Amino acid sequence: MATYTLKINGKLQKVDVDGQTPMLWVLRDHLNLVGTKYGCGIAQCGACTVHLDGMAIRSCQYPVSAVGEQEITTIEGLSESGDHPVQEAWLEHDVPQCGYCQSGQIMTAAALLKENPSPTEEEIESAMSGNICRCGTYLRIREAVKTASKK
Ligand code: FES
Ligand code: FES
Repeated sequence: MATYTLKINGKLQKVDVDGQTPMLWVLRDHLNLVGTKYGCGIAQCGACTVHLDGMAIRSCQYPVSAVGEQEITTIEGLSESGDHPVQEAWLEHDVPQCGYCQSGQIMTAAALLKENPSPTEEEIESAMSGNICRCGTYLRIREAVKTASKK
């Protein structure tokens, strides 16, 4: 066990955990930030996506010891009141079905638009292709990302 001080959603948080603990479990079990979901646990589905210094990462495979001073943003910290352009576009297109994959989808889309504010269809397809949705909301996701890119 070791103590890690992490910057999460703009706040410093201390956790006492083994260094190999994946960030997903630090967020969910130690900090009660349960918007980030567990899907596969092996970096294959994207349900656990959060931002590390603005880049989308798979928190199920990212050990807490590797975070250092980099800032983590979860779905809870993406915007103050759910008004990030991606979140607004998601509402406009009524994207979620069961909702389980959606925080990961939104975090991946937000990271894409931060890096590339006007992506082509192919770039959207490619950036979002690693996020799996068992309900098949893919078409609405693509449309919502396009809408968000115009906001
Ligand atoms: S739970 Fe991390 S990618 Fe599936
Ligand atoms: S909305 Fe159900 S898994 Fe994506």
